[in-house]
Amino acid sequence: MKFTPGKRLLSSGRPMRLFTIAVVILTTFTMCARQTNHYKITAPEAQLRVDFFLQEGKPYYTVVKDQQMVIDTSSLGYRFNDLPAMDKNFEVLEANTSSHEENWTQPWGEEKHITNHYNELKVQLKNPAEDLRLNLYFRVFNDGVGFRYEIPRHEAFQKAEIIEEKTAFNFTGDHPSWWIPGDPDSYEYLYNETPLSKIDSANTPVTFKRGQELYVSIHEAALTDYAGMRLRKSRAPRYGFTSDLVPWPDGIKVKAELPMRSPWRTIQIAETPGGLIESNMILNLNEPNKLDDISYVKPMKYVGIWWGMHIGLNTWKAGPRHGATTENTKKYIDFASTHNIQGLLVEGWNKGWESWLSGNNEQNYTEPYNDYDLEEIMRYAEEKGVKMIGHHETGGNIPMYEEQMEAAFQYLEDHNIHAVKTGYAGEMKPEGMHHHGQFMVNHYRQVVELAHRHQVMIDAHEPIKPTGIRRTYPNMMTREGIRGMEYNAWSKGNPPSHHTILPFTRLLAGPADYTPGIFDVLLEQQHNKRKKLVSKKELKNRVHTTVAKQLALFVVFYSPLQMASDLVENYEDHPAFRFIEQVPVDWETTRVLNGEIGKYVTIARKDRHSEEWYVGSVTNKKERSLTLPCNFLEAGEHYKAEIYRDGKNAHWKSKPTSYAIDTVDDLRKGSEIEVQLAPGGGTAIRIYPSD
Ligand code: NOJ
Ligand code: CA
Repeated sequence: MKFTPGKRLLSSGRPMRLFTIAVVILTTFTMCARQTNHYKITAPEAQLRVDFFLQEGKPYYTVVKDQQMVIDTSSLGYRFNDLPAMDKNFEVLEANTSSHEENWTQPWGEEKHITNHYNELKVQLKNPAEDLRLNLYFRVFNDGVGFRYEIPRHEAFQKAEIIEEKTAFNFTGDHPSWWIPGDPDSYEYLYNETPLSKIDSANTPVTFKRGQELYVSIHEAALTDYAGMRLRKSRAPRYGFTSDLVPWPDGIKVKAELPMRSPWRTIQIAETPGGLIESNMILNLNEPNKLDDISYVKPMKYVGIWWGMHIGLNTWKAGPRHGATTENTKKYIDFASTHNIQGLLVEGWNKGWESWLSGNNEQNYTEPYNDYDLEEIMRYAEEKGVKMIGHHETGGNIPMYEEQMEAAFQYLEDHNIHAVKTGYAGEMKPEGMHHHGQFMVNHYRQVVELAHRHQVMIDAHEPIKPTGIRRTYPNMMTREGIRGMEYNAWSKGNPPSHHTILPFTRLLAGPADYTPGIFDVLLEQQHNKRKKLVSKKELKNRVHTTVAKQLALFVVFYSPLQMASDLVENYEDHPAFRFIEQVPVDWETTRVLNGEIGKYVTIARKDRHSEEWYVGSVTNKKERSLTLPCNFLEAGEHYKAEIYRDGKNAHWKSKPTSYAIDTVDDLRKGSEIEVQLAPGGGTAIRIYPSD
């Protein structure tokens, strides 16, 4: 049997036992392809193809979906500080393809059972004059493409200092795109919606719409011991971008020990916007779970002593308005225990907050403030069945935190605390380091590993972006890296369209601790107190949604640690809070029922531990009527539904707190639910079996 380069290599669904045969066949392929230096690999089932080729010794790739070019001829390779460049004078030493299919189970997540099915092309390149080697791996899935570099071990050198990764992404037109600036220290931005040509530098995921039929998102997977990638506009071609790695203070991008494997560069491709959300490619490109006992890893909802500080009612530091007092904490424990909220976060519990944002944050992670009796709080929380969540705000002072880290996690373990929120809000130390550079990527990972040794789950704020490492480290639960709720407290806030862009951008990368659930959207209930505490300008700050939309966000935004973020007194006697009590945080499966980026989206998720489904639908500032087909329900079963919707004349601006709760008695597979979303509004639905 002979393969000609350019023919489809592997037929769909090739059984695994044919694997060895495929490898034998591919040796032949390698021999005959060598003359052309052109290799192709297709997806198992979709019409998706990657071409790799050398032109005058320089490596390039293209990506084609359904005969449409998604990525036109784009360069690959590296430039180094201490080695000759690896971007030219190459020849192909060997190329092989293989096929891979496996099913695996997520310990928690949006989807329990995941299929990992792809065809892989491995190309080994050699520059004989310089005696350099570079390997490339391309994996083509039905829902996208991932590729990575490998610099193999070399006899003459053990390290490589990367000054430029030459990966290009040359798009084919000025497509509409959704992106945030390429800030090396923060992802807390509103999204821009512009043609691609308006991007100078962007953090990933960057999502764009190609023509009428394709939705594409560029990101990375398995970011380990490497710098975060941004996209930077190239000088040419017109819609070209290159990988722009966040540097060390000395300008080096990555200080690598050989052999080195880069993260995967990912290109998710779908025919609908929702297809991007349903893709598991980023998780599939990560290594399987490598933690032993993860019985302490448990998704949960939580409330917190948190919003009070952001709206100026309370302080983190001790004093007359200190939020983290024993008494206040007990009030929150009581609330959580009676409302099916498993966790409680308390910020400002430890000594040192006086120095936060002073330029020299010095906190103590093993000494509570005097008015916070941790022993008593732990006793009370245990009695009431509530799990405490610790808090480590580093302010970006890494040497200070690293010195205390071991003791800080031992302290959590000694107190039977299995979750911690970390924070890096402040100027980075050592000076010149960036939140998204290699130094910090390694720091964040070290924290995840240390946390596991102490049986602690992580919720990281001011983090490195998610790249699917939760598959390998399932205690890496959630993170910020998003412009979350807090912005509504102290800035002009997040407009209604923000929630309709995030699911198609930031949330494609992984869970986000957005912290939804503010019911007092106008910040009215504590108005008189706040009036004395904050400026007139701050008093005008508010949340830019209806209350019903806040509920819908519990389904639309996935986070395995999901916060109900309002002051608990604002939930008391509020019928809508019942939805938050009931909504799960761990799902069997996820379906996107509809969506247009920046306009609206509806997501349905099935609870992993019952037969219930939950649906969340959100809109931008436009009101909307949507028909939701319930094809996801089990045939032959009867269901009831509780619908939490915007009330009559509800409007995020003028009438945000108006909502209504409807019930539907007989819902079956194929039934349709009509929903009306107010401007800036939403709908949250609980569907449960009738019997
Ligand atoms: C910024 C975080 O995003 C926020 O949640 C936290 O309350 C403050 N830093 C203080 O740690
Ligand atoms: Ca933040």
